Amino acid sequence: MKKTKTSRALPLTANARTVLERRYLRRDTEGKVLETPEDMFRRVAKTIAAAETRFETGLDPLELEEKFYRMMTSLEFLPNSPTLMNAGRELGQLSACFVLPVGDSMESIFEAIKNTALIHKSGGGTGFSFSRIRPANDVVASTTGVSSGPLSFMKVFDAATETIKQGGTRRGANMGILRVDHPDVMDFIMCKRDQTVLTNFNISVGLTEDFMDAVEKDAEYELRNPRDGRVVKKLSARKVFEHIVELAWTNGEPGIIFLDRLNRDNPTPLVGEIESTNPCGEQPLLPYESCNLGSINLATLVEGDEINWDKLAGTVKLAVRFLDNVIEVNKYPLALIDEMTRANRKIGLGVMGWADMLILLGIAYNSPQAVQLGEKLMKFINDQSHEASCDLAEERGAFPNFKGSIYDRPGLRPIRNATCTTIAPTGTISIIASSSSGIEPLFAVSYVRQVLDNDILVEVHPLFEKVAKERGFYSPELMKVIAEHGTIQDIPEIPEDVRRLFVTAHDITPEDHIRMQAAFQKYTDNAVSKTVNFCNTATREDVSTVYRLAYKSGCKGVTIYRDGSRDMQVLSVAKKE
Ligand code: CDP
Repeated sequence: MKKTKTSRALPLTANARTVLERRYLRRDTEGKVLETPEDMFRRVAKTIAAAETRFETGLDPLELEEKFYRMMTSLEFLPNSPTLMNAGRELGQLSACFVLPVGDSMESIFEAIKNTALIHKSGGGTGFSFSRIRPANDVVASTTGVSSGPLSFMKVFDAATETIKQGGTRRGANMGILRVDHPDVMDFIMCKRDQTVLTNFNISVGLTEDFMDAVEKDAEYELRNPRDGRVVKKLSARKVFEHIVELAWTNGEPGIIFLDRLNRDNPTPLVGEIESTNPCGEQPLLPYESCNLGSINLATLVEGDEINWDKLAGTVKLAVRFLDNVIEVNKYPLALIDEMTRANRKIGLGVMGWADMLILLGIAYNSPQAVQLGEKLMKFINDQSHEASCDLAEERGAFPNFKGSIYDRPGLRPIRNATCTTIAPTGTISIIASSSSGIEPLFAVSYVRQVLDNDILVEVHPLFEKVAKERGFYSPELMKVIAEHGTIQDIPEIPEDVRRLFVTAHDITPEDHIRMQAAFQKYTDNAVSKTVNFCNTATREDVSTVYRLAYKSGCKGVTIYRDGSRDMQVLSVAKKE
């Protein structure tokens, strides 16, 4: 393999190298890998820095390239997977998130399927609201027949996704949303009960404030045919809510999103209404909008037992410039997406390694200090990223839809990006950075992780191994026991303070999960990717309580998962052979 001029030892784990080699590095037509991870970061840094030449910023693109390269190779910041995979290559599609409109006509539905195929081919994920499609068994004037309804069309989207498989890089992912006041909502809630159908979809019910009020008051609410707005029937809000809870308890779906809340934070209400998010729920977008994400690895910012705030501020600033440049050099799969994305210039800067940071600081994830620090940290990142975006606006101009946006107020500076922050799941980039994912707690101290379709990786948390060795309780036997248990809470030979620090997603309560999600949501422009884990014995009542808590505490949506409730789990604690 060829060496780059500035090649130096990258702090990559074996797992990270495996992931990079399988899907990220350039290959020739015979499948031979043509670049090293260093070459990949160089390719990305060079391509994204080249955007500077489009502006008269006085910045030297070579100097900036070096800064971007260092920021990535030190694993302080990584952009979303499509940027790593495609920058500087023929495809050149750099965004992870897209939302497409689906109208109530054959033309519109199949246009959306075609566009979905183009997006999946380029490594992006798509979200849709199916709420405009008339319900099943409604009239179809042109054929005098009856309509098939949103659910049957979702199956066509699913089949198309299955066939495309995202250009061989990653499996296509979709988000399907139906408003709670669509007449087919009860069928939608149940549509993934059979775990073999709609496997390329995450589904969420779009809840409204009227609906949540009706749940509170135990009242009925109206369901309307989207074709003519006529009320078709009324249902008990509480019954529908319980139905959602029942199915989510059964196998984790549907999730819920709070539509009115997404629209309250819609930065460009005059341009359009937000009706969907990307596949993992963290990025609300307007129809035909796309967004690129990037995440700061918080573990790299701890020095001694403190956060280096200056370094964090510098990284945020550089990351915002990086993500804004991505919008410039991105090759969009459709002219309409190109136009919309450039007009709003949404970026989604977030974090990974939050659980690692807390461990390094000696703070338990499920403590009030952790929630307070989460809020303080995200406020800092949000403020700094808005500052950086305003500075960019001075240099390059505000986003074209700025007029009439929520920022278009006296006393506010023009801003370059309609949104700046998003907390992504960081499913794969956290493996590359060898950090805990997003703002999630550790899943287990040792576990088997299934990635990229069916590959399996075994991991022991490096910080735990280090502490175990330093404190003298490390032994191969004990590590084996932990791998089988997943949790260390019931292992007496591990000191209590260590047990408190290495809490896992299942050691903490669902309320702890929501409190952390709400803390980060408070200072995040877009939304927060978070799974609320329940133990297998959790009740439907527990799920219901958490949904209401999420609503009350300002979250924009909730995804839950009860351990063992699905045949296939992405993360699972190692099982005894
Ligand atoms: O870590 P990575 O950059 O690969 O992605 P992530 O943070 O886990 O996911 C971010 C977004 O990428 C998701 O919300 C989806 O929009 C998209 N995605 C996708 O389209 N297909 C996948 N298999 C995984 C993620």
